[in-house]
Amino acid sequence: MLPRSVDTADVEGKVVLVRSDLNVPLEDGRVADDTRIQASLPTLRLLLERGARGIRVCSHLGRPKTDEDRATYAMAPVRDAVQAAIGDERVEVLENTRFNPGETKNDPGFARELAQGCDLYVNDAFGSAHRAHSSTVGVAELLPAYAGLLLLDELRNLGRLLGDVARPFVIVSGGAKVEDKIGVLQNLGEKADAVLIGGKMAEDVRTVNPFTFEAILPVDVVAATEFAADAETQVTPFDALPDGWLGLDVGPETRDEFARRIAGARTVFWNGPMGVFEWPAFAAGTVAVAEAVAGCDGFTVVGGGDSVRAVHEAGVADRISWISTGGGASLELLEGKELPGVRAIPGGGDSQ
Ligand code: 3PG
Ligand code: MG
Repeated sequence: MLPRSVDTADVEGKVVLVRSDLNVPLEDGRVADDTRIQASLPTLRLLLERGARGIRVCSHLGRPKTDEDRATYAMAPVRDAVQAAIGDERVEVLENTRFNPGETKNDPGFARELAQGCDLYVNDAFGSAHRAHSSTVGVAELLPAYAGLLLLDELRNLGRLLGDVARPFVIVSGGAKVEDKIGVLQNLGEKADAVLIGGKMAEDVRTVNPFTFEAILPVDVVAATEFAADAETQVTPFDALPDGWLGLDVGPETRDEFARRIAGARTVFWNGPMGVFEWPAFAAGTVAVAEAVAGCDGFTVVGGGDSVRAVHEAGVADRISWISTGGGASLELLEGKELPGVRAIPGGGDSQ
């Protein structure tokens, strides 16, 4: 069941506390990627249109621990970006919730502080819905709570992968760490018609296969003499890497095979790059997957920071059905877990 929507709330003349996920990457004190800010705007605009008297937006930013971190992770650049986009004095962006040590402990005192002076609460922070913190769970117990538009879109789109999917259903998984994705693959892998695995993860799966289904591993790799952008390279069979060489991308035969399977799919979920795509010499596999997913006519979902960055860099983001703003949250949802931030909103319990 989906949590009740902000769309059903009477907000006219009210002060609304909104929890967004404005945890964006920063570079030199500036917002390096504003995807999450843009994705948070529809809910804020809806509240303004419906006549909210005041909107207090809160979010965490980074994982500040020390006093110096308070300068690095101050909300100012994010606040400027939100205000530049919205241009309405009724919207106020509060300071980084994690500057208060109570936040990550779901401290009721900090929740009361946030709720103070507000009439209702809207949680739009899908990317943080897997955290039981004061700003995601505690406040929902103090104020009438609603789900924001982004949170609901994420639940609907990712939720489609958990329900009856159009077939063939193809999962593409990669990246460095198998631990991060194992839960999702254990939950969805059996149901998929094909699970394609690339990246460092493919080597882990070849060594110790943790799955009950048969994953499709690369047939060839781009091997490098060292972990460096300008390393000497050669294409070798996946299971015959020369001693001391590293596989840093999937090879051309694998690219074609993965692209062919993705093209024939009616549902695709992709999480994790096929190689070290930050370096041009090892980007071809990830770019091939990004283009194949974009070219697929079915329902396509991309989740997780690196693959999301790859679809943007490949210039194909507008041809993907749904790009999740959640990393850990999207994985936990697809693992079949209930997200605390969702459960805290009325109508948000049970299965989503
Ligand atoms: C994210 O970027 O994954 C979310 O904003 C959550 O951040 P966290 O992992 O620091 O809780
Ligand atoms: Mg995270």
